[in-house]
Amino acid sequence: MQAALLAGTAAASTLLYRRLNPPPIEQPAGQKLTEVTAASKTEALKSGFAVDDKLTPLQSITNYNNFYEFSTSKSGVAYASEGFVTRPWAVSVEGLVNKPRVFDLDELLKFELEERIYRLRCVEGWSMVIPWIGFPLNKLLEKVEPNSQARYVAFQTLLDPKRMPNQSTGILDWPYVEGLRLDEAMHPLTIMATGMYGEVLPPQDGAPIRLVVPWKYGFKSIKSVVKISLLAEEPPTTWNIQASDEYGFYSNVNPNVPHPRWSQATEQRIGEYGRRKTLLFNGYADQVAKLYEGMDLVRNY
Ligand code: MTE
Repeated sequence: MQAALLAGTAAASTLLYRRLNPPPIEQPAGQKLTEVTAASKTEALKSGFAVDDKLTPLQSITNYNNFYEFSTSKSGVAYASEGFVTRPWAVSVEGLVNKPRVFDLDELLKFELEERIYRLRCVEGWSMVIPWIGFPLNKLLEKVEPNSQARYVAFQTLLDPKRMPNQSTGILDWPYVEGLRLDEAMHPLTIMATGMYGEVLPPQDGAPIRLVVPWKYGFKSIKSVVKISLLAEEPPTTWNIQASDEYGFYSNVNPNVPHPRWSQATEQRIGEYGRRKTLLFNGYADQVAKLYEGMDLVRNY
């Protein structure tokens, strides 16, 4: 009886361990994205559209994820999101605009796609280099014509606990929401990504469409977006709702402003040994520092 109980407990904990620490899965080849433009290397490096750092392998990018709608275990997201259905899909762009509009996925995929090789720095202290494919958010916003009162842009992830099983739990206030100032949203580095490594975005990385803002901590880059609203006031954001003293609205990568529980001075590049120094604005200061001229970056963390 005792042995059976012990064996049962051992089997159960093995199962639990496997669920929390599944072996990495090989990402099945996704649909290829063709007609992707890329600036010349010199041009791309100068504008920040590409960095010279070594790319993080696809296997790592797709097996080490934060996507709480599926799992709170980084290695568990790939499994939990396998088979996530992304069609039909639509993104409503609304609020303080002259021409509100719902874009279906095929319309979104018709925007001229560009490759952008960006660093992604998570507030938890790890980083990657990802070859995204997408289009500048400003191209989408131009279509709806923000009016003169619009100063902020709010983003919302799909809310559907049947397709995103962890939304049945209360670990976060669902849906996941994020926001940017309008000038940040219009910046050429801010993109809506629909792919990576030449193929459509895998579910675990935010399929079918996600925001990517490379100079901000990774949690600002909201995944699986269904709504974008132009607003006059700063919108609430998920991690700020959870812990406002830890996660601010701006959340620009800044090695000089420590998180209340840990330093932000260094980071672990996934696949590298040791830690490297974190760069102000994640290395994009030349492109974005002017957005924050005169602002106190400690108060506006
Ligand atoms: N978006 C949604 N909807 N849900 C999430 O849990 N996690 C964020 C961000 N976007 C998250 C999200 C965090 S904390 C990070 S670091 C990045 O996604 C991770 O992106 P990646 O898994 O593609 O590397």
